Amino acid sequence: MFLGYFGWTQTGPGILGEIATAPLNVNAMTWRTSPAATELETVVIDWPRQWLGLPNEFGGVVYDTASVGIMHALAAAREEAAPSTRKLGLSGRDLPRFRVYTSDQAHSSVEKAAIALGLGEENVQRVPTGSEYRMDVAALQAMIERDAADKFKPLAVVATVGTTSTASVDPVSEIARICREQKIWLHIDAAYGGGFAILPEFKWITKGWSEADSIVINPHKTLFVPLDFSVLYVRDLERLRRVFTLVPEYLRGDTIEAEKNYMDYGIQLGRRFRALKAWVIWRSLGRVGMAARLREQVRLTNLLVDWIKADQRFELAAPVVMPVVCFRLVDGDESKLDNLNSEIVEHVNASGRAYLNQTKLRGRTVMRVGFGNVLTTEQHLRDFWELIRETADLEGRAPSRP
Ligand SMILES: Cc1ncc(COP(=O)(O)O)c(C=O)c1O
Repeated sequence: MFLGYFGWTQTGPGILGEIATAPLNVNAMTWRTSPAATELETVVIDWPRQWLGLPNEFGGVVYDTASVGIMHALAAAREEAAPSTRKLGLSGRDLPRFRVYTSDQAHSSVEKAAIALGLGEENVQRVPTGSEYRMDVAALQAMIERDAADKFKPLAVVATVGTTSTASVDPVSEIARICREQKIWLHIDAAYGGGFAILPEFKWITKGWSEADSIVINPHKTLFVPLDFSVLYVRDLERLRRVFTLVPEYLRGDTIEAEKNYMDYGIQLGRRFRALKAWVIWRSLGRVGMAARLREQVRLTNLLVDWIKADQRFELAAPVVMPVVCFRLVDGDESKLDNLNSEIVEHVNASGRAYLNQTKLRGRTVMRVGFGNVLTTEQHLRDFWELIRETADLEGRAPSRP
């Protein structure tokens, strides 16, 4: 009954993969420090690329998280918009103020990347979304034009496939068209949503991906790999390497040309052998096994949606695209509903029996359920829904807190 965040990717084989990794204590920084870790990383990175149908000009690298992935992607974008930034930095040069655009539903990692890269939090411009929480492309176009007239330089657009609150999917093809015309880096944050593209019925979410410059997916959210395991794909990975390769004297003997040294693709030198647990879980479940589990999440999602629709006290708060359901108690005095919904979540979580999140959509508090925990069964979901209804009854009767 853990239905918070984006589920939880803990599986038996995944745990074994982690247990096998720790005592090996391998450092995947150069090919020589561990040929096996390097080669296996290259192998496992390529599997999701094929599953998601990304063209083979995309190469990848494993980081801990999507937040670190977007920071590296925007560093490469920054280098292309302002060549020699790697060498000279941004300040004291005659450079315009750069802008990064992303939707009002996008993850806060976009701002964090801008902070880390010296682009500035305020230069991340939030583009409004339409009724389905997808980026409004006309608004994006207008913002870019306005900024260009004001002498800002658009650096990147970050489109999201599976936003954090509602799992909405931005219209990537249309965004890609603008990026292509204006020569702006397109990064796709498919941290959560990307993994669903292994299902033919979700193929539509990959529209426009082949036009992106970079894409991040989090197999630790959707593809059953235990935390932490995130992959950044870059079209022509050499663009990333050019920004980050730096070989100090004490590593020179270790880095023979033509060998892949993953230290060249980011700020980290020492790197964990993350590929092993991915290999174990993906070999263990197989693509068919993963697809079956994802489909089960979708089935449970649809059940919950039906129950919400059948109870007039509740309503769906956003379209349901992936196994994320935002809903709201709507029975009662409108001015008290935000508090009431929040209190239901607090109460259920405090009970220790189930766990869910709350979020805000267009300023209103809603309850949010995220599937993904492989242990969640239909019976759990029934019990969870019963708990929500009972708690709503209780909270509805209780004098509301100030
Ligand atoms: C859409 C999206 N992007 C990025 C992230 C950040 O992921 P990570 O925790 O791997 O940095 C999240 C986390 O929930 C997310 O939902």
